[in-house]
Order: sequence, then structure tokens, then C-alpha cells
Amino acid sequence: MSAKSKVGVLISGRGSNLKSLIAACTDTNYPAEIVLVISNVAGAGGLTHASNAGIETKVISHKAYPSREAFDSAIDTALNDAGIDIVCEAGFMRIHSESFVRKWQGRIINIHPSLLPAFKGTHVHEQAIAAGVRMSGCTVHFVAAEVDSGPIIAQSAVPVLKGDTPETLAARVLEEEHKLYPLALRLAVEGRVRA
Ligand code: GRF
Repeated sequence: MSAKSKVGVLISGRGSNLKSLIAACTDTNYPAEIVLVISNVAGAGGLTHASNAGIETKVISHKAYPSREAFDSAIDTALNDAGIDIVCEAGFMRIHSESFVRKWQGRIINIHPSLLPAFKGTHVHEQAIAAGVRMSGCTVHFVAAEVDSGPIIAQSAVPVLKGDTPETLAARVLEEEHKLYPLALRLAVEGRVRA
């Protein structure tokens, strides 16, 4: 059996997608293992999921660095030191510098709670409801310099129901995110999709 790809996960918050990736990686046939979780926020909920699973964690606060480049360079060093093959952003709330994105191009993926290219940025579910769309969903894509863009790996759709609030829609989409991210990571590490 070939060696598993080493995954680094970047988070900023509760880490429910991280949790679903951790669960997927417990399957011996899954082609990837998470070896490092980095949060830019101390006390982020996801850090607990990682340590409960025995995964190394690091807090690298963007506030400790004078520039985006300096912060990204600290992340880059931590990822390289851990021998990371592929990076998953899972609710990571910082925008990367172009040089970081270039370095990791084709080896960094992100999950976004809409059917991209619709509804980029924040307040995504509010945007979807305001636009009156009947379907929304989630997207896993390779990270490109422009936020929430880059080649799409996989998407999953859910209905937007009459009376939905941003919260009810978010919960429906999140359930799909938890299935989609492990699938998309598998496709990426097996080289079945390319940036
Ligand atoms: C998810 O909805 C993800 O798509 C977005 O941020 C949220 C993170 O949630 N990028 P969690 O921290 O994985 O629970």
C-alpha cells in the first residue's frame, strides 16, 4: 500500500469540517492522514477536536506578525516542518498572500458554503436567500489568489426552502459540507482532479 498523504488543516473556529476530515481519516483505506492543525485563533473549538484525536496543533496568530507575508511565511514554515503534502482550509478566516498561494498551488484546497462562483465572501446564506435562489450548497476548490475562486473539485446542492433563515440554510448546507470535504480531499490526493 502506498503511503498516505500528509494533510495540514488550517482553521479559525469551531472546526466541524475538521472533525469530519478527522473521522474520514480513521478509515484505514482513506488515502490521507492529518498530521498538523494550525489555528490563527487561540482557543478555537477545532483545536480540541484535533488534540482529542492526538493530532499536533499549533496556534499562529496573525496578530503577532507585521504583514500578511510574514504571517503566511510562519504558516509555510510550520507546514514544511511537518512534511505536509496538502493543505485543507476549513473555516480559516484569513486571506493568503499571493506568494503563499503560488507556493502551495495545486496543494491547497478550501471549502465554501455556496455553489461557487455564486455568493463569494461572507454572509453567504444571507446572500443566497436575498437572491431568491432555489438551490444552494457547498463547494470544495483549489485555492487561487482571488478569494473563493480556483478550480472546483466537487460540489453538493441543497434546496433553499420557503421560510429558510440564514441559520436553517447554513445547517442544511453544513451537513453536506461534512460529506463533501472528505470526498473532495480523496479526489485531490488521488490525483483524480488537478488545479
Ligand atoms: C463552513 O461553513 C465553511 O464552509 C466555511 O466556514 C465554515 C466553517 O465551519 N468556510 P467549521 O469551523 O468547519 O465548523
